[in-house]
Amino acid sequence: MSSKSIRVFAPASVSNVGPGFDMMGFALHEPGDEIIIKKNNSNELRIVNIEGDNGNLPKEVDKNTTTVAIKSLLEKYDLNVGLDVSIHKKMGIGSGLGSSAASAVAGVFAVNELLNLKLSKIDLLVHAMAGEFVASGSIHADNVAPCLFGGFVLIRSYNPLDIIQIDYPKNLYCSIVYPDIVIKTKEARKILSKTVKLKTAIAQAGNASGLIIGLMTKNYELISRSIIDLIAEPKRAKLIPCYNRVRKAALDNGALNCNITGSGPSMFAFSTSAKDAERIADAMFKAVIQSGLNGKKYVSKINGKGPIVLE
Ligand code: HSE
Repeated sequence: MSSKSIRVFAPASVSNVGPGFDMMGFALHEPGDEIIIKKNNSNELRIVNIEGDNGNLPKEVDKNTTTVAIKSLLEKYDLNVGLDVSIHKKMGIGSGLGSSAASAVAGVFAVNELLNLKLSKIDLLVHAMAGEFVASGSIHADNVAPCLFGGFVLIRSYNPLDIIQIDYPKNLYCSIVYPDIVIKTKEARKILSKTVKLKTAIAQAGNASGLIIGLMTKNYELISRSIIDLIAEPKRAKLIPCYNRVRKAALDNGALNCNITGSGPSMFAFSTSAKDAERIADAMFKAVIQSGLNGKKYVSKINGKGPIVLE
């Protein structure tokens, strides 16, 4: 007998990862979102509860990231089933940590498990991307893909979709600060140039290749000198009042490098031990406070699993 309800967790993710604008991301252990889905007898998809969003998320099924993703999945496979969806946001919206991606992934992952559809992650991905699209207004998979697949993910191509999972050093730790300002991805994409100079494209491709090779060969020095974004970060840094202070604090404390995650305002820094990562996160957080902001800090290894069923 199949179960009538399911509760799942889907993780936050760091996207762009320096030079990988729209093409690289990795999953975190925390924070993340929880979704509960129950079958109902009405044949309708309904949002019955949203918590932790301060009233900011749309409750209409056609506007909410989770239900847009689920609806896209149900329609594609012609599934007539009634579902009640409860969304428990456990991370900031507009934080740069893939909040909308986690909600979209949690939705499609939960439905796949609940209805025993046995769809592959690549089958689920396009529907999670449809959910992400309503939140961000753009097609990008560098949060949804790592959130769904787990680990470190390269989107080699969007058309056709080509997702590559990259091996990474298991002792890589990520320190994160989330200053409590909201940056909407939609807005942070508008300020980017539509074209880049050839010289910049070459340098960015060099850094992106260097980062991938550094991760795969556990070459920390190569990782450190490759995590540089010449395209989005120079434009977006000015949206984050504590950017320079946080970056300096991380580097002064031995981080491999320090960058914006996604469209910000969260920033991340890699290091190679739990002790270093805690010290770096403390220093980054202090820099946020010294800039007159509040916020949160996290320390996480890369989460190799992605979403999980809680019950
Ligand atoms: N790659 C996207 C961007 C991620 O930087 O706009 C958004 O979270």
